This record gives sequence, C-alpha cells and structure tokens, in this order.
Amino acid sequence: MPKRILLTGGAGYIGSHTYVALVEAGHEVVILDNFVNAHRSVGGRLERITGKPVTLVEGDIRNAVTLATLFAEHAFDAVVHFAALKAVGESMARPLDYFDVNVGGLTTLLRAMEAAGCRRIVFSSSATVYGVPDEAPTPETAEFRAMNPYGQTKILGEQMLDWLGQSNPDWAIGILRYFNPAGAHGSALIGEDPRDIPNNLMPFVAKVALGELERISVFGDDYDTPDGTGVRDYIHVEDLARGHVLSLDRLFESGDSHCVNLGTGRGYSVLEVIAAYKRACNRDLPHTIAERRAGDVPVYVASAEKAEEILGFRTEKGLDEMCASSWKWVSNTGAHE
Ligand code: NAD
Ligand code: UD1
Repeated sequence: MPKRILLTGGAGYIGSHTYVALVEAGHEVVILDNFVNAHRSVGGRLERITGKPVTLVEGDIRNAVTLATLFAEHAFDAVVHFAALKAVGESMARPLDYFDVNVGGLTTLLRAMEAAGCRRIVFSSSATVYGVPDEAPTPETAEFRAMNPYGQTKILGEQMLDWLGQSNPDWAIGILRYFNPAGAHGSALIGEDPRDIPNNLMPFVAKVALGELERISVFGDDYDTPDGTGVRDYIHVEDLARGHVLSLDRLFESGDSHCVNLGTGRGYSVLEVIAAYKRACNRDLPHTIAERRAGDVPVYVASAEKAEEILGFRTEKGLDEMCASSWKWVSNTGAHE
C-alpha cells in the first residue's frame, strides 16, 4: 500500500538515496530540507532518476509553524527523519548548534507529529552511540557511550523516542544505527558532496583520486587489526536506503518498534579501502602513515543479524561497488553544482 511520507533532510546524502528507494517502492514522498548541507539542484536530479516530479519544501525542522502547515496539507502516514548536523569535530567546537538541531529539532518534529496524530517514525542513528565498544561485531545490546556532542545527541534522540514509545503504544518507532555509509547512486546523479575538506575516509580518498588533494594520511598503522590500520563496516548507501523502506514496511505491518544496526557485518581496513578505490579509478593514490586520530575507534563492525531477523535486511553490494559508484559520481562533474 502506498503511504505518504515526510522525509526530513531528504536533500542530503543518505536522504536523497532513500527518496529514490521510497518512490520506487510506490510511496508519495515530501522532502523538507533547509539546505544547510545540500544543494538545491538535487531536486532536479531526483526527478531525472525517478521520472516523477519532486515535492521539495525549503524549511527548518525547528520551525513549528512550517511543520504544522506541512502536516495539515499532506496528512502524512509516517516520517523518515534524517535532518541533523553530523560533523564530529564541529560538534566539539559548536555543541549548542548540535543540541539545538539534533535534539531540539527532533522534539519540535515529534510535537508536530503528535498534534497531527502521525505516530510512525524512522530515525537516523549511528554506530557512534556505542563509543568505543567492548565487542566487535557490536550487537544492539551494547551500552551507550558518548564520545562527543554529536554522539550524545544521537543517544538523547534514541532515549527520547524510547520514552515517547513507552508513553503511548500508538507510537511505532524504527531506530536505525548506520555504520559507515559509502558509495553513490548507480546513475551518478546523486552522492556525497562535502563542501569542505572531508574528514571521512571515502570522500577524502575520492578527492585524492580526482587530484584535488595530494595524498591520503592513514591515521595509524599500529592498531590491533590484521594490517594495523582502522577497520570499519562500510555499507553501500543504496543498501542503506533500502533498509529504510524495510523499516517503514515493518512499522506499518506490525505496529511494533525496533532498533537495529545497519551494516554488512564485515569490516575493511583503511589500506583495503585505498586498494579497492585504486582498482575502481585506475589511478595512483598516494598515501602516508600518520599519527592516530584523536578519539578514533580501532574497529567498528556491525552485528547484522537483528536487522536480517526483524526487517529481512541483507546488504547486496560490497566494497568494490561502493568505490566504483563513488568514483563514477565524483568524476561526473556535470552533476555537481
Ligand atoms: P547530510 O548532511 O548529507 O544530510 C542531512 C540533511 O539535513 C542535509 O540535506 C541538511 O541540509 C538537512 N538539515 C540539517 N539541518 C536541518 C534543519 N534544521 N532543518 C531541515 N533540514 C536540515 O547527512 P547524511 O550523511 O545524509 O546523514 C543523514 C542522517 O544520518 C543524519 O541524521 C546523520 O546524523 C545520520 N548518520 C549519518 C552517517 C554518515 O556517515 N553519513 C552515519 C550515521 C548516521
Ligand atoms: C567518523 C566519526 C563518527 C561518525 C562517522 C560517520 C570520528 C572520530 N568519528 O567515524 O562519529 O559516525 O565518521 O560520519 O570522526 N581515516 C584515515 N584517513 C583519513 C580519514 C579516515 O586513515 O583521512 C581512517 C580512520 O582513522 C578510520 C577509517 O579511516 O579508521 C574511517 O574513518 P571515517 O571515515 O572518518 O569514519 P569513522 O572513524 O568510522
């Protein structure tokens, strides 16, 4: 059954891919985004991919009037909530902005949902809620450990949703803890487009491949991992997007809430990522070993069983497809604003 979905932050990296997956699944989707970290041109590119007109509203999740108007106009069945600030370093420098958008914005959104009687939400959480986990693969039962204000806002968001669910059984809440999203849409029309020098590995490697940055610094080669470099569970953004469709399906079918990791259950080291990207772009990727990055975690790998059991979610694309689609996107310069 097609549903009416509000997609906050739907012009951003993961949100735009999820828009495509939801429209392809037959849903009617309205995007709300303030473009603080997205290009306005994404709307046209989403239309080219889906062949359907896009409804993209410019506005802020912290604005209760904007939200009330949208809910009155559209009678949404559910919300998929991506809109947030997400840079760890920036959150250390400007914590109040992070609490304002990620926690205050969520509160304003949930109030608007209550007022409209819309009580189904999928929430973007992160593996970062585990801090430095005791075990890898990390199960959903691992304890919360905030390492920085960004991580703290995701923990608070999850806890707020949990208490809300306990207050009224009509709420059906899907909490999705993403591991490391990577890659781009196969069309090369949407992807990750950082405005500044990227902090994350895959977009940094992409800029070195393009010749925009000179060399990759590998942050530490003395971790207790097979080649000494940090290991992460990279998940293709198209797989991740599909996870949101399955989460919504589950909320509509069962009315029960769930909280699951979205990852592949398989980790790759920094050196393995560089080697895979090299195969994808067929260029030299200069790199040097540097100091460990402060606050870094040696290994982050998802325990992926619960998502498979509850949502029937299994990833389909591996690291080579993530690198190939990333390269196709970043080298498709015509698609960038
Ligand atoms: P993104 O920055 O590309 O997308 C977020 C979108 O929200 C942007 O389009 C931005 O313009 C919009 N936005 C921000 N503040 C807003 C506001 N106040 N009102 C309306 N729109 C606003 O980030 P992304 O990588 O697509 O991440 C989406 C979500 O997933 C975020 O909640 C993020 O914390 C979470 N997440 C991301 C990662 C990752 O590695 N990318 C990992 C784990 C969790
Ligand atoms: C980082 C954030 C995390 C956030 C996630 C997704 C930190 C400390 N953690 O996680 O909270 O949820 O992004 O947005 O910022 N690396 C290099 N050279 C680089 C960049 C990264 O060697 O130039 C290494 C890192 O040390 C790590 C791996 O590559 O081992 C992946 O790093 P990154 O892409 O930044 O992701 P996370 O560290 O998982």
